Amino acid sequence: MMTPPVLTPAALRAVTESEVAREPGFLQDLQRALAAPPHAISPKYFYDAEGSRLFDRICGLPEYYPTRTERSILAMYAGDIAQEIGTGCDLVEFGAGSCSKVRLLLDALRPRRYLPIDISAEHLEQSAAELEREHPGLLVLPVAGDYTKTVHLPPRLAGAPRLGFFPGSTIGNFTPAEWLQFLRMAARLLRGGGLLLGADLVKDPAVLHAAYNDAQGVTAAFNLNLLARANRELGADFDLDAFWHSSFYNAAEGRIEMHLVSRRHQRVSLDGETYELEEGLAIHTENSYKFTIAGLRRLAEQAGFRPGAVWTDPRRLFSVHWLRAPERE
Ligand code: AVI
Repeated sequence: MMTPPVLTPAALRAVTESEVAREPGFLQDLQRALAAPPHAISPKYFYDAEGSRLFDRICGLPEYYPTRTERSILAMYAGDIAQEIGTGCDLVEFGAGSCSKVRLLLDALRPRRYLPIDISAEHLEQSAAELEREHPGLLVLPVAGDYTKTVHLPPRLAGAPRLGFFPGSTIGNFTPAEWLQFLRMAARLLRGGGLLLGADLVKDPAVLHAAYNDAQGVTAAFNLNLLARANRELGADFDLDAFWHSSFYNAAEGRIEMHLVSRRHQRVSLDGETYELEEGLAIHTENSYKFTIAGLRRLAEQAGFRPGAVWTDPRRLFSVHWLRAPERE
């Protein structure tokens, strides 16, 4: 079998001009991260077209267990999940992307409608059309928008409880304050139904370390793409060879942290300003929190859910939670 090549920073630059469009807030957030401590920026800026491609590659890596494991749980327990939550729901997916995981549930859940929410309208339309072709009879109504803000859904369907689906442990990339904010919003939106939530679990730090430091360097390229994106979109002049990808498990905080570390003292220009970066300065680019089952259930309760069944894999790497939303008034 051929081993895929290790990604070099140079490979990151080979992105076509047509993909370059400015993300609102990126310039200001990057300026803030470079100017003063805490040198930190939101992981949402990873996901331009190149970043999304790199993330798709991460999901298939041998070391990156979350995607594979969650898929195996959904495939294995789709019948049990349907028994627990019932069929004929109005299925809402938060951050649906290419709608790939929901396919594992559709035959068992037989939803009346599927409402995928995603920020990328174009990608969403394509995925929705594909899904409708594959599942004639399923009504797919894509909703373009940022599900971390206020979500406007089509009116409820009579007799079809709303079921939210939030897989991938994306909740782990939020801050603790954002966990509660998101879960409270979801509890309101899903009244009378519930939320099926995928959450990565606390485990042997060696397994975590490998998952975020893969041998092919795809995660490093994903992290460095943030700087490559700034060069493409904002006209910055980051030298990608002048940064290390650093990723480690912070056990006290229960999270993987990713940073970009300056290999030497250097100057970077961005939008007419020059920033001096000391040797060793670390720009914090992502947190990926890992949960315990009990901790996640407590959190859900705090947000107003009643935690129900939990499904895991035999190694207890990943968990899928059924959380009942409050009844409708
Ligand atoms: C999208 N998110 C759940 C991934 C994670 O594992 O936190 C993003 C990622 N970062 C590095 N590898 C994958």
